[in-house]
Order: sequence, then structure tokens, then C-alpha cells
Amino acid sequence: MDLGLAGKVAIVTGASKGIGRAIAMELAREGVSVLISARGSEAVDATVADIVAQGGRCAGMAADMAEQGAAEALVEAAIVQFGKVDILVCNAGGQRKHAGFDDLDDQDFLDAFTDNVLSVVRLVRAALPGMRERLWGRIITITSEVSTQPDRTFQHYAAAKAAELNLTKSLSKSLARDGILVNSVAPGLIATPGNEESFERGAREQGRPIEEVKADFVRKFKPGLALGRAGEVEEVAAVVALLASERASYVTGSNFRVDGGSVIGIT
Ligand SMILES: NC(=O)c1ccc[n+]([C@@H]2O[C@H](COP(=O)([O-])OP(=O)(O)OC[C@H]3O[C@@H](n4cnc5c(N)ncnc54)[C@H](OP(=O)(O)O)[C@@H]3O)[C@@H](O)[C@H]2O)c1
Repeated sequence: MDLGLAGKVAIVTGASKGIGRAIAMELAREGVSVLISARGSEAVDATVADIVAQGGRCAGMAADMAEQGAAEALVEAAIVQFGKVDILVCNAGGQRKHAGFDDLDDQDFLDAFTDNVLSVVRLVRAALPGMRERLWGRIITITSEVSTQPDRTFQHYAAAKAAELNLTKSLSKSLARDGILVNSVAPGLIATPGNEESFERGAREQGRPIEEVKADFVRKFKPGLALGRAGEVEEVAAVVALLASERASYVTGSNFRVDGGSVIGIT
């Protein structure tokens, strides 16, 4: 299927590893020029080099999306490098602290909302003028299964991801008349380096094989995981590429779960 993405320009935040990296690689393979960002410049440079080595067009910028001014700087860099911004993949986010409610303070909630909501608000605001001028745009937020199905822990993260999803829906309504489509992709358990490291740590601490620790985690925390395994980053990237494309021209305001069936329920 030709996605019709050749010649488009995308910004992918948080793209030096994990899901964001896979998205940047997938878009580049489809002929998209990609500007990637993350805080650590070495990993950004390494990802740019990998994408260029596979024949893609890519540039990178070290930027902390929690900082004021990062969004404007990224959009400016994309325009200098590639002339415009057609596609935003708001992927940077996550949780700085892994804790339950009793150990979360005000600052943890503020950080989670800065990382997962305000970062999106700022990036969309910065990219809108150009998208509106060309009457074409795609905005994809990377939320989470916890946006709609929170666990009994990580309340700061789940509340922020729910707000990010709500923002996505609202933006889809206000930007439709400008030809800008806004959707969310909600991953479940994905085999990212970060998740793999936590399983390895757990296995070391408990003196058990890693496969046993993973199976235990799925049994306890992911009872709905119909496919019974973690997803691959490429499985998230494929859905993002489709949503970014011309082939998704009648899709806006939707939330695409890539979670192996983990969210229990149909809405
Ligand atoms: N992995 C999962 O199972 C899963 C499940 C549901 C949702 N998600 C969501 O998917 C997104 C990506 O998660 P991931 O698991 O792929 O993360 P990851 O493997 O930890 O990678 C995070 C990437 O984002 C960058 N980053 C982190 N904070 C940043 C910031 N403030 N500004 C700019 N870049 C930043 C990191 O590089 P630096 O550290 O150098 O900045 C890295 O490139 C997040 O929004 C997360 O909430 C993930």
C-alpha cells in the first residue's frame, strides 16, 4: 500500500530510542524527512546516523520538551532543514517517578502534566501556523493504555495521559476545518529498552529467570493481554505511519490502541 507520505516533513519528539525511534525510522522509510529530538545529543546523533545510513532524510536536535522554548526551536529547525512541518508525532513523555499515590507529591503531578500535556500543547501551537497555511496536517499523540484504563498505581502518569487523550480529541474538533487531523495511538506493554531494563533489574533482584518475572508481571498487571506478550516498537510505528498518511484521510479524533488486547472493554 502506498501511504503517499513521500515529500512530507515530520517532527518526532523523544526519538533517540524506544517507540519514538521506531516511528522516526518507519516514517523515513516511507520517504518522510524527519527531525528528531531527545535530551541526550549522543543518542540523537546515533539515531540520525542510522536513519541516514538506511537512505532516509533526517536531522536531529537535542531538546527537552519539558522546557519552555523547545517546541518553537524544534519547529524552526525543521523549517530551516526541510522547509515546513506536515506531521507532528508527540511521543516524548512518560513518568519520571515510578510510585503509588502515597509517594506522589504535587511536583510529581506537575511534572507529569508538563511532560505529557504541556509539551504537546506547545508543539502543536508552534507548528499550527504553517499547517493552517497549507491546509494540511497530521498530529499524532502517543498516549497509553492507562489513558482509559488506569492501574492502581502511577496516578500522576495515568491522569496526565488521560488529559493528553482528552486534548487530542478536542484538538481534532477545532482543527478539522484547517485540514489538520488529530489522533492518538495508545500503546500497552511494549518491549522498549526501558521496560526490558526494569525486567532485567527485577530478575537480578529476585534471583529468577527474566521470562518468569515477565510472565508474573503480565499475570498480575495485564490480565486483559489477549496476545500474551509485549508488543514490538515497530508494531506501534506501523499504526502511526498509517495515521500520518494520505490513506487515513477520514480519520480524526480517534484513539488507536496498540496493546495486544490489554484494555478490557470496547470503548
Ligand atoms: N514503553 C511502553 O510500554 C509504553 C506504554 C504506553 C505508553 N508509552 C508512551 O510512549 C512514549 C515513548 O515511551 P518509550 O517507552 O518509547 O520511552 P523510552 O524508551 O524511555 O524513550 C524515551 C525517548 O524520549 C526521550 N525523552 C524523554 N524525556 C524527554 C523530554 N523531556 N524531552 C525530549 N525527549 C525526551 C528519551 O531520550 P532522552 O532521555 O535522551 O531525552 C528517549 O529518546 C511515552 O510518551 C510513553 O508514555 C510507552
